[in-house]
Amino acid sequence: MLDLKRQYEPLHKELLAALEHVLQTQQFILGEQVASFEQAAAAQLRVKYTIGCSSGTDALWLALVAAGIRSGDSVITTPFSFFASVSSILRAGARPVLADIDPVTFNLDPKAVSNALDSPAASNAKAVLPVHLYGQCADWDAFSRIAAENGLKLIEDAAQAWGAKWKVQTAGSLGDAAAFSFYPTKNLSAAGDAGMVTTNDDQIAERARMLRQHGMRRRYHHDEVGWNTRLDGFQGAILEIKLKYIAGWNDARRAVAERYHLLFRKAGVIDSGPYPAKGIVLPHEVPGAHHVWHQYVIRSARRDALREFLTTRNIGSEIYYPVPLHMQTALKDLGYVEGDFPEAERAAREVLALPIFPELREDEQQTVVVAIAKFLS
Ligand SMILES: Cc1ncc(COP(=O)(O)O)c(C=O)c1O
Repeated sequence: MLDLKRQYEPLHKELLAALEHVLQTQQFILGEQVASFEQAAAAQLRVKYTIGCSSGTDALWLALVAAGIRSGDSVITTPFSFFASVSSILRAGARPVLADIDPVTFNLDPKAVSNALDSPAASNAKAVLPVHLYGQCADWDAFSRIAAENGLKLIEDAAQAWGAKWKVQTAGSLGDAAAFSFYPTKNLSAAGDAGMVTTNDDQIAERARMLRQHGMRRRYHHDEVGWNTRLDGFQGAILEIKLKYIAGWNDARRAVAERYHLLFRKAGVIDSGPYPAKGIVLPHEVPGAHHVWHQYVIRSARRDALREFLTTRNIGSEIYYPVPLHMQTALKDLGYVEGDFPEAERAAREVLALPIFPELREDEQQTVVVAIAKFLS
């Protein structure tokens, strides 16, 4: 599914030298290396502020709380994402209100958000939290309109979308604030847990920076109850090096995705979609989006059998995500039931992520496509 060693091998000398430098400085938590990474990241994203923290999960919580979300508020988001998109809203003390997804992009559907805003649960809605799922930005024109008309904040879950764009703007610079994850499998990845908040807003930036260190502006003077969620020097050093390569890696992912499209077309197995019939539906880059292909996700009506078939041939695949969030045991108190979000539920039954990473070779892709064509025949 993913061979991280192919990225590590050509970089290992450079990475070891950077880690050695951190050891020489003995600045292990925040410090000069994290500040330097934060600056380089801000320049690359063309965003005013970047605040490194311990994980994408913490970045979501920091972004929400720093943007003023608190107990009694509602935040609208998607049921088809990683758990943290919803759990971070609960951790901020607010109520998650879910709205269904678009079956083509799997991203939050703006029309469903407009409908959800009319429900009593959303009477205290303060923000919308769209996720740029699989590396493709949510429809930011529509969400900007909805936010402006309803006086809502927009928080991006950009965990899977380093380098993605909506029109000319980068993911991370679109909303009031955004959260990135640098989990080791992400496009831009650390050697452990790490994350980052980005924003162009002076107050949100100042507050996020304070909240990541127990609400301290002055040492041992606590203005608010924050948390300990600091980025460490080793991760900062590794991430700053990888920043130099990420644009090339994302281009390579785009080439891999294009090659899958071509190979599947040649194999004659594509259904036009959005739902699969006898063949498979391919993922689709919509106008306005610059996709960075964190995942290449097909749809199949016989997804589980297809996955088993691939596994017996030693071909990796993964299901992001098998259970929509409204059907998770931990979230049953939200009061949703099966049938509430039919697009998310159908996607959870049909999606299958195929191997994709910058160094994936054409012969390996051929093997994947040939196996899928064989299964379908
Ligand atoms: C969409 C999404 N949101 C949030 C997160 C949370 O990030 P982390 O694992 O770094 O806490 C992830 C990553 O796993 C993610 O994919």
